[in-house]
Amino acid sequence: MTSGRSPSIRVFADPESLGRAAADFILNFSRWVLASRGRFSFALSGGSTPKKLYSLLAASPWRDEFTWSMAHFFWSDERCVPPDHAESNYKLAFDSFLSRVPPPPQNVHRIHGEEGPDKAARVYEEELQRFFGRNSVPAFDLVLLGAGGDGHTASLFPGAPEIQEQKRLALPVHLEPPRLNRVTLSLPVLNNAVQVLFLAAGSSKAGVVRQIIREGNPEGYPAGLVRPVHGSLMWMLDHDAARELRGVQSDKNR
Ligand code: 6PG
Repeated sequence: MTSGRSPSIRVFADPESLGRAAADFILNFSRWVLASRGRFSFALSGGSTPKKLYSLLAASPWRDEFTWSMAHFFWSDERCVPPDHAESNYKLAFDSFLSRVPPPPQNVHRIHGEEGPDKAARVYEEELQRFFGRNSVPAFDLVLLGAGGDGHTASLFPGAPEIQEQKRLALPVHLEPPRLNRVTLSLPVLNNAVQVLFLAAGSSKAGVVRQIIREGNPEGYPAGLVRPVHGSLMWMLDHDAARELRGVQSDKNR
């Protein structure tokens, strides 16, 4: 496992090998968690980067080796659309793996984006409290995140007031049309995870990755504000996303 406060960085030749490595990491990490606890809580991300990973989780060997009955799936963020909408993060995960593997339906804790941002955030917060307990900040075993070329992560956008939130667990995000309203986990929840895993691929991410990982996040990008307080942080990158990070060795044979 990764440990300590400084991020662990792994670089892979291309998005395909990045996806395979992420699937291996998640399988091994879930085993490590389940060796000492009876459940594995996993917050999924949206975006295009995790698609490969998701489809691999539904394929051999990962599908057969993962303990689906003990895994609970949540989302880091969601767009305010019905669950069968093309922009739904739930639909992305459902189509690419959750519909093809056997977690019990009660283990899938989606964000009800179709209820609108305020209600959906409230209902999701209640769901988080039911699962993790009411008296402390939820501690996900694993939070999967992506980073936008503008430095956003989950639905925490640069300069947005949601970044300042200290109390709420899930937040409504109101955006100007044509952008869709969203719901996002707050930074205190993201930063209370046991393990945060960022996946980034493509050269459009290279500048943000350099600023966050190499330069100490001078712009205060939300993705760079995710620094687990007690947990660990890993960035898995493809070669293009890592191209401005000099001196970071690529994983071999991937
Ligand atoms: C979403 C996200 C978002 C995403 C980044 C990176 O719902 O879109 O959760 O934060 O992870 O925008 O997206 P890509 O993987 O498409 O680059």
